[in-house]
Amino acid sequence: MFELFRKRRKDIDDNISIDHDNIPKHIAIIMDGNGRWAKQRNLPRTVGHKAGVETIRRVIKECDKLGVKYLTLYAFSTENWKRPKDEVSALMDLLVEYLKKEFDELNKSNVVINHIGDISKLPDKCSRELISAYEKTKNNTGIVLNLALNYGGRSEIIDGVKKIAQDIQDGRIGIEDINENIVSSYMYTKDMPDPDLIIRPSGEQRLSNFLLWQCAYSEFWYSNINWPDFSESDLHKAIYDYQNRDRRYGGIK
Ligand code: FPP
Repeated sequence: MFELFRKRRKDIDDNISIDHDNIPKHIAIIMDGNGRWAKQRNLPRTVGHKAGVETIRRVIKECDKLGVKYLTLYAFSTENWKRPKDEVSALMDLLVEYLKKEFDELNKSNVVINHIGDISKLPDKCSRELISAYEKTKNNTGIVLNLALNYGGRSEIIDGVKKIAQDIQDGRIGIEDINENIVSSYMYTKDMPDPDLIIRPSGEQRLSNFLLWQCAYSEFWYSNINWPDFSESDLHKAIYDYQNRDRRYGGIK
């Protein structure tokens, strides 16, 4: 049934022609709608998250195939701790299971498995697995997969501000050195380009504390599809729409 639905969407996709010379370098996704997807099927929310992991697999593959260089996935926010304990714990287990199960395949595909956010607050098994995955893949040269975990844009900015203040106090930089590039270099995403395209499925149209510093000139793309149903066709459509936007960065063409 789902396959048939996907096939139909694929036909739509075939009418979209993506410019392969203008693929966004960095795509960031707010993976929303797992709970609603499950509810619509009278299933527990955790089944929705599991179905969401399937989408992660497909989307990484497709982004890699298209030549996207950085893919950032919002997997757990600094606010998600407010969810019921069982759901938080299921998400943490899912993360460990995902990293263990997918590691070989991702490594073989040359993926750098990176993370952003304060992972020191995650259960030990999660931070251990994340650090190990990063250490083993950091020299890979393929797509960089950024898993945003215990991530909050405001926390990231606060962390950066504290580090800048410390470096000023210790004489490593001066106040006059502070500019946009310097501030960027204190963010978790240092050395990465800002996201060109931010995708949020599930019908919500807000940023939810995601990449606040980095999204100054990102293009946004929303859709009503819940994350577990997000297909390669949706990704193509988002990229196609992105390619037809007029990015002026505040200037005039
Ligand atoms: C938002 O949907 C989704 C999350 C908070 C978790 C996303 C996590 C995964 C897709 C799987 C685990 C991650 C990895 C990296 C293995 P929601 O639950 O808020 O949906 P709702 O708004 O419909 O309730």
